[in-house]
Amino acid sequence: MAASIKQMLGSDDDSLELLKVMADNSFDSILLTDATKEGKIIYTNAAFKKLTGYSSEDVVGKTPRILQGAATDKLVIERLRTALAGGGKFEGRAINYKKDGTPFIMHWRVLPIKRGGAIKAWIAIQRETSNL
Ligand SMILES: Cc1cc2nc3c(=O)[nH]c(=O)nc-3n(C[C@H](O)[C@H](O)[C@H](O)COP(=O)(O)O)c2cc1C
Repeated sequence: MAASIKQMLGSDDDSLELLKVMADNSFDSILLTDATKEGKIIYTNAAFKKLTGYSSEDVVGKTPRILQGAATDKLVIERLRTALAGGGKFEGRAINYKKDGTPFIMHWRVLPIKRGGAIKAWIAIQRETSNL
């Protein structure tokens, strides 16, 4: 995909603009964190606000842990922690909480963004689902 986007758009700025339009307008929630140990949020899209009630201003600089609460399955989070520590991918479902405290089932994937072997950021694709 990267090669065909580059061929079509030519410059890095145009490719970035395309990815931004895709992320901003995605029906799924998209969240990016930096590559620090805590994983601080650097971007969330409009679908994240629709899903969780949190705006980007609410969450940038915080960690996605703010979505967790008493009923969040600790084993799922442990599996995510292991995947993050190993630089690998994660997919799972767990109870998360909206800004107003309403619980819902989050189904999400986390993937590393790597350049030259080093992790530069993490991306999550998230949606609400009906079964754990
Ligand atoms: C990109 C990214 C997205 C994440 N999204 C969620 C999420 O939607 N729901 C959730 O419960 N935890 C999510 N997490 C997990 C927490 O941020 C955190 O990594 C996890 O709780 C393990 O850290 P801890 O041991 O400090 O709690 C995400 C983590 C990353 C890196």
